[in-house]
Amino acid sequence: MSKDLNQKIYVAGHRGMVGSAIVRNLQAQGFGNIVTRTHAQLDLTNQAAVQSFFEVEKPDQVYLAAAKVGGIHANNTFPAEFIYQNLMMEANVIHQAFANGVKRLLFLGSSCIYPKLAPQPMSEAALLTGTLEPRNEPYAIAKIAGIKLCESYNRQYGDSHGIDYRSVMPTNLYGPGDNYHPENSHVIPALIRRFHEAKVNNAPEVVIWGTGTPRREFLYVDDMAAASVFVMDLDKTIYDQHTQPMQSHINVGFGSDVTIAELAKTVAAAVGYQGEIIFDPSKPDGAPRKWMDSFRLNQLGWNAKVNLAAGLATAYEDFLRVN
Ligand SMILES: NC(=O)c1ccc[n+]([C@@H]2O[C@H](COP(=O)([O-])OP(=O)(O)OC[C@H]3O[C@@H](n4cnc5c(N)ncnc54)[C@H](OP(=O)(O)O)[C@@H]3O)[C@@H](O)[C@H]2O)c1
Repeated sequence: MSKDLNQKIYVAGHRGMVGSAIVRNLQAQGFGNIVTRTHAQLDLTNQAAVQSFFEVEKPDQVYLAAAKVGGIHANNTFPAEFIYQNLMMEANVIHQAFANGVKRLLFLGSSCIYPKLAPQPMSEAALLTGTLEPRNEPYAIAKIAGIKLCESYNRQYGDSHGIDYRSVMPTNLYGPGDNYHPENSHVIPALIRRFHEAKVNNAPEVVIWGTGTPRREFLYVDDMAAASVFVMDLDKTIYDQHTQPMQSHINVGFGSDVTIAELAKTVAAAVGYQGEIIFDPSKPDGAPRKWMDSFRLNQLGWNAKVNLAAGLATAYEDFLRVN
């Protein structure tokens, strides 16, 4: 099926890591009518502002990649901000999309929607089967609400208004546009910074917390953007065959995971750090394994393309550009 490249597509959060990758992907495909607003131009927690934006712009499609995001520490310190801002953004954007005739919308969630002790790999069916990780529960609840908003609008208005709102749940992402903050960043950007600084300072060793044995899954952000566009554009009959009205979200993972020790070695190689990597087993490890079951997405015909070594090489170039 040929794509209508003139469709007006609103990418919310276009300056974020995921939103900017979605814009790159759409532009590369030739979509020329992409609408964006910075946070300063449009605060998505402001109901009246979101309403007037949608009334004026009337987009055909919406990618909802704007969110208040942060690590476990930030989530645990500012739980009210995380739940309030995310609920407001989702409710405002999804409702105004509906009210202004948007037929397709893609909501981006996160793997933290799954119970803390969900069986591994975490399948879509694990949603709402157990207790969440308490330290980011407010954020996870807001993300679950986003999925349920999409499903509820579909169930009530799907047939009458021809709307089709979908959700994707990414695993850990990395790549251009990542946050390299020294204290408040995810594991890959934190390791890139540490190995880079160790290389520049000729440090003989880098010490990493924990045993190095926990396993984690990582997906390059341009793969995530490609998966997002793929899911958005799936034919409705096919999407419906692979999902259920009240379990409609789709996991997006790389498909396999690595140990933290393997990750550290691969980051060191990408950065060109040749010193020793030491693990400090007196520090906490976290969950032994966290990876997504991407069977549903793979069945639909999508697989990740960028392997860790290649993705990390590009991520390091990005780090050097911004630091
Ligand atoms: N990064 C990951 O590893 C990862 C993994 C799984 C899922 N995800 C999901 O992917 C989505 C995007 O994440 P990301 O990593 O791209 O985050 P990000 O880089 O922090 O980008 C989020 C964007 O949302 C904007 N935003 C926040 N609050 C806003 C508001 N009130 N009004 C308007 N814009 C607002 C931000 O603008 P300002 O910066 O100007 O506030 C920023 O451009 C999130 O839903 C996240 O849960 C990310």
